[in-house]
Amino acid sequence: MKKTVAVLHGDGVGQEVTEAAVKVLQSVGRRFDHTFEVKKGLIGGIAIDEMGDPLPKETLDTCEKSDAVLLGAVGGPKWDQNPSALRPEKGLLGIRKHFGLFANLRPVKAIKGMSEASPLKDHLSKDVDMMIVRELTGGLYFGEPKRKNHNGAVDSLTYSREEIERIVEQGFELARLRKGKVTSVDKANVLETSKLWREVVEEKKAHYPDVEVEHLLVDAAAMKLITQPASFDVVVTENLFGDILSDEASVLTGSLGMLPSASIRSDGFGLYEPVHGSAPDIAGMNIANPSAAILSVAMMLKYSFGMETEASAVETAVYSVFDDGYCTTDVQKAGHRVLSTSAFADKVIEELERELVSD
Ligand code: NAD
Ligand code: IPM
Ligand code: MN
Repeated sequence: MKKTVAVLHGDGVGQEVTEAAVKVLQSVGRRFDHTFEVKKGLIGGIAIDEMGDPLPKETLDTCEKSDAVLLGAVGGPKWDQNPSALRPEKGLLGIRKHFGLFANLRPVKAIKGMSEASPLKDHLSKDVDMMIVRELTGGLYFGEPKRKNHNGAVDSLTYSREEIERIVEQGFELARLRKGKVTSVDKANVLETSKLWREVVEEKKAHYPDVEVEHLLVDAAAMKLITQPASFDVVVTENLFGDILSDEASVLTGSLGMLPSASIRSDGFGLYEPVHGSAPDIAGMNIANPSAAILSVAMMLKYSFGMETEASAVETAVYSVFDDGYCTTDVQKAGHRVLSTSAFADKVIEELERELVSD
């Protein structure tokens, strides 16, 4: 199969982890006889510096002509004082909105044998396997009015019934393919949007009698993620809650550097990116964990290209590298050898090849 992938590495560690992920993608191409044509584009701070725009039209054109987008991360202290329209994050929100990528899938899975990388006790973290389904193109991020002046500021939390319905359906569909449980997270004791959200979940539930439904208020959900993390299967929630809870949940695996994501819509087109940001504190040091970016490639193979076998091979390869006694600085284990970003990617490629040889 031939596929075109737009690669937007962005800022900070985005560059390093995307390079690692593209190497793995190309290895999948060689091993499984696919051609992945990579087309590079600018987004975020680097796009502001080079083109005066966090999301240049050229980048959107490149993405439009591609079958999927792989993104690194955007942002950094250099642009933190910029006006809102010239913030790197504006480019990221813009590309999600432009392509209508309303469903953000963020799987959180413990690495086998690596539970000591998590600050949680082994018995709590070892069986973690959940999918956070975050609504991505609505809510506080995009609601109008949105403005600020010296004396005050406003952000608006709005959701239409249709926006809630489509993401809730996505949650139910995924639960059916997994452990059959949906936890809907809201703040229905206070927020009107959450009351509508809960109503929609209750309505949709009738169409999925095989799926167990749990409602949690977001504050209680934040606690239960730590006290009973293995009790979650699919978590479906609005934009901001999903953003916050996914960073929290990453700790269950040991690091934000482990969490991939897929931002998709109904027709298979998608944008794939790590959940983490540009990590300015470690950028340029070749020590960032590339697992999130590499596992995002696996999600691309699965969700945009329908290449389930190839996706599983990439996942297995990443987990095997840890199993073989290697790790990265963020997820260390006694006796394991710490690898750089690029060396970790090379090991994943070795594993990928080994699996194929033994097939
Ligand atoms: P961050 O996710 O960049 O970093 C948080 C912490 O996690 C840091 O200590 C960092 O070193 C660590 N970390 C992140 N990724 C890692 C990896 N792959 N390997 C090892 N450690 C890793 O969050 P932040 O510091 O709050 O934000 C920095 C910038 O990134 C900000 O400008 C923010 O807006 C942006 N951001 C972008 C995205 C994105 O592009 N999707 C996501 C989050 C934050
Ligand atoms: C994420 C990030 C972004 C978000 C920021 C950088 C706009 O935190 O992808 O999780 O809040 O969606
Ligand atoms: Mn985030």
